[in-house]
Amino acid sequence: MKLWAGRFKKEVDSKVNDFNSSISFDSRMYAQDIRGSIAHATMLGAVGIIEQTEADAICGCLEEILGDIESGALPFDPEAEDIHMFVEAELTRRLGETGKRLHTARSRNDQVALDLRMYLLDHAGDLDDLLKELIGVLCDVAEQHKETVMPGYTHLQRAQPITFAHHLMAYAQMFLRDKERLENWRKLSSYMPLGSGALASTTYPIDRDMVRRALHFDHITVNSLDGVSDRDFCIELASDLSLIMMHLSRFSEEIILWCSWEFKFIELDDAYATGSSIMPQKKNPDITELIRGKTGRVYGDLMTLLTMMKGLPLAYNKDMQEDKEAVFDALDTAKLCLSTFIPMLKTMTVRKDNMRAAAARGFINATDCADYLVKKGMAFRDAYKITGTLVARCIDEGKTLETLELSAYRELSDLFDEDVYEAINLEKCAFDRKVPGGPAPQSVQNQIDMTRELIR
Ligand code: ARG
Repeated sequence: MKLWAGRFKKEVDSKVNDFNSSISFDSRMYAQDIRGSIAHATMLGAVGIIEQTEADAICGCLEEILGDIESGALPFDPEAEDIHMFVEAELTRRLGETGKRLHTARSRNDQVALDLRMYLLDHAGDLDDLLKELIGVLCDVAEQHKETVMPGYTHLQRAQPITFAHHLMAYAQMFLRDKERLENWRKLSSYMPLGSGALASTTYPIDRDMVRRALHFDHITVNSLDGVSDRDFCIELASDLSLIMMHLSRFSEEIILWCSWEFKFIELDDAYATGSSIMPQKKNPDITELIRGKTGRVYGDLMTLLTMMKGLPLAYNKDMQEDKEAVFDALDTAKLCLSTFIPMLKTMTVRKDNMRAAAARGFINATDCADYLVKKGMAFRDAYKITGTLVARCIDEGKTLETLELSAYRELSDLFDEDVYEAINLEKCAFDRKVPGGPAPQSVQNQIDMTRELIR
């Protein structure tokens, strides 16, 4: 029998019941639902809307229900409409008449808005820890590769020499911003909606601030219509998760390239790679490919939420029940990806020699060759043109700027001297970029120190 059966002359069709039901995916909010109900009942008792003895009985029984769900003694009823109805029905089954007083001055609309906020706020904490761990691993690996020269790329063409540490610390910056975005999200989401009722609040003299304090929210929602119909907090979280995934996906794409035979900059640990069913030689970077793939799925969750909300009139509409699967999926997926990616990153082997060898091919010191002439007084555009001509000559003769003889340099400009070879030395090119934000070992050490400070 439905709690709302009073107005109906027939039982709901069983297919409709299944279609309508959300317990299969909202039961994971049971702890938040019960904590919210305990805070609500305590407040009802404190302000005298129900008897203190009734409030005590309700709270005690809710604690028992929580314990029984946790121990497995109370399985969720798949026939229940949702977790809110399930807990309330169980309370009434155990307590009788008193249980029926819990829902005074409350609606499932403000209840679900509360539960979902609480659930997401509770579980986004793990995300924060994972991001910190990832950033920490990036700092650790970077620390070992401050002098590991590799080619930096634009257009996936070798461009200028950098270090592997510098490349890794670029990702650390992205994940630091992701972490900060989550902190901002937490601030904007810490609004307690209970008391909004179905849409128009309530005539009972409830104490919303007491409930807020009990549930550790920063504020109460300011408008009851907004309190029950806002799902910005889901959308914003999905958007923050999409950015995390986008960063992980770019990184994954690079790792996929780096462990190909074409690059061989890194080797994944055997525990974090997979083989082929037919090709005995294969070692595939499946984890990173899956992360790249799952990024699309999290974007999909974000689109689901945005599209679901875009045409909804105020206030609550049942469409909004679709919020949970999308935001839970985005959260679960991002956590799963982070927790798999971190140990993979930690255990990979860096092939310094291959990075150095790649840096030696592709004329990535050409800018430094031009800068050499500029430092001797030539205008940059002229220096640029001369260096381009030198590169073309090297390509024709199968040489590099390092192996091209000084006489060839001097044919184009007598500003060239023996010291040009030092100026185009790859290590020097990378290590002389000492400005803040540059790849020089000391600059990267500063990045690492600043970053470590932020994740302490
Ligand atoms: N299961 C519902 C949801 O997730 C709870 C709110 C139901 N409210 C209602 N008026 N039918 O949105």
